[in-house]
Amino acid sequence: MGQKIQAVKGMNDLLPLEQKDFKLTSAFWQAFEDVVRKWTRRFGYSQIRTPILEQTGLFVRSIGEETDVVGKEMYTFSDSNDTLSLSLRPEGTASCLRAVVEHNLLYNSPQKLWYMGPMFRRERPQKGRYRQFHQVGVEALGFDGPDVDAEMIAMCADLWRELGISDFLTLEINNLGNKEERAAHRSALVAYLQQHEAILDEDSKRRLKTNPLRVLDSKNPDLQAVCNQAPRLLDYLGEESLAHYNGFKRLLDVLGIAYVENPRLVRGLDYYNLTVFEWTTDKLGAQATVCGGGRYNGLIGELGGKDAPAIGFAMGIERLLLLVHEYGRLKTDAAPDIYVMQQEEGLEAAINYASRLRAAGFNVLQHCGNQSLKNQMKKADASGARFALIVGEDEAENGTATVKDLQGQFGQQTIASAELTTLLTQWKNT
Ligand code: HAM
Repeated sequence: MGQKIQAVKGMNDLLPLEQKDFKLTSAFWQAFEDVVRKWTRRFGYSQIRTPILEQTGLFVRSIGEETDVVGKEMYTFSDSNDTLSLSLRPEGTASCLRAVVEHNLLYNSPQKLWYMGPMFRRERPQKGRYRQFHQVGVEALGFDGPDVDAEMIAMCADLWRELGISDFLTLEINNLGNKEERAAHRSALVAYLQQHEAILDEDSKRRLKTNPLRVLDSKNPDLQAVCNQAPRLLDYLGEESLAHYNGFKRLLDVLGIAYVENPRLVRGLDYYNLTVFEWTTDKLGAQATVCGGGRYNGLIGELGGKDAPAIGFAMGIERLLLLVHEYGRLKTDAAPDIYVMQQEEGLEAAINYASRLRAAGFNVLQHCGNQSLKNQMKKADASGARFALIVGEDEAENGTATVKDLQGQFGQQTIASAELTTLLTQWKNT
C-alpha cells in the first residue's frame, strides 16, 4: 500500500459528513449558496466569475505592496516560461475590477456584481482562519453614494436576518476620508507615534514606516492607550467627506440598523477611502470579523479604467457558517424523498419505479447491491428519507410495490404500480 497523501495545511475538504475539527457539511454549504443566489437577486445584483489565478501585479497594484496580504501571504509562482508571475487570488475585488475594466462593463451603465469562491492567503491556520477560504463578495461600481453605501449595509443585515444571526453581529463603521485628508492625518499620526516609539512593538515600528494607520489596528494590549489617544482621522475630514459620512449614518438610522463608530477601524487592504465597515462577532474567538468592506473610489482608475466610484464588501463563508451552525438557522434538504429497497427478483421493477418517481419530481436514492431487507431498512432510516419503497419477490410477481412512511404518519401500504406516483404525491403533500 502506498503512503497516504494529506491535504495541504489550512485547506479543508468539504464532506457530506461533519468532521471533528470542521463542522460544516457540503449540504449545509449548498443550502447557504442557495440562500445567497436568492439574496443577491432580491437586491438586483448579477454574478461575475473570474479565474482563480491572476497576474501578481494586479494584487500588488490594488491591495498594496506593504499590506500583509501581498507582502507575506500570497501564493505566488512563475509561469513555465519564467517571465510571468502569477498568484492565487487572495481576495475578489481586484479580479472583479480587472474583468470590469478589461470588458469595459462600465461603458454604458453602473454595475452591481457579486461573486463567490475560494481565496488563498498563507496565514497561520486556526479555527475560522484558513489558507484556502471562501468569500461571497458584492461590488457596486459607478455609484458615489451614500445611498449605495447604505444599500451595502442593508444587504448584509438582510442576510443576517435570514440566517438568524443578527443578534450575534455588531456593525462597526468609520470614514477614511480622501487621499489629502489621509495625508494630513498621517503626518500628525507619524509625529505622535514617533514620540511613543520606545513602547511600540516590532510590527508597529515597521508599520510606522510603511502604513502608520495600520498601527492603530494593533491588537497588542500594551499599545491600546497610545492608540486610543492618537490623532483621529475623523478630525481631519473635510466638508465633503463629512457630508458623505453623515449621509451614510442618516440612512442607517432610517433603515433602523444599529452601528458603532470605530475611529480606529482601518481595514487590512490599502485601496479604501471614505466609508469602511466591518461586521464582528464575539462568538468565534480571535477570528471576529465575519464581513468587511468599504469604498475604493480610486481603484478602477489605477487599474487602467475610466475613473468611477465604487464600494463593496466580502464575507468569509467559513466564519459565517460556523456562526450560523452554532447560533443561527439554515435549512438543509439533503435527504432524499424516497429510499428504494429491492430484492434480487425485484431489481428490474425497482429501477423502473425509481426512474418514474424521479421523472415525477421526487428525489430518489436507489439502494445498490445485495443486502437483507432489514439492513436496507436501516440504510433507508439513516438516509433521512421520508418514504421507503420496497420491491421484494411478491411485489415483483404481482406488479405492486410496498410504500412505507418512515415518519409513521401513513404507515405501510402495498399498492399497484400504476398508483405509486399518485399515492406518494398525496402523502408528500399532506
Ligand atoms: P477582507 O477583510 O480581507 O476583505 O476579507 C473579507 C472577509 O474574508 C473577512 O472579514 C473574513 O471573514 C474572511 N477572511 C479573510 N481572510 C480569511 C482567512 N484566512 N480565513 C477565513 N476567512 C478569511 C476583502 O477581501 C475585500 N476584498 C472586501 C471588499 C470587497 N472590499 C470591497 N469590496
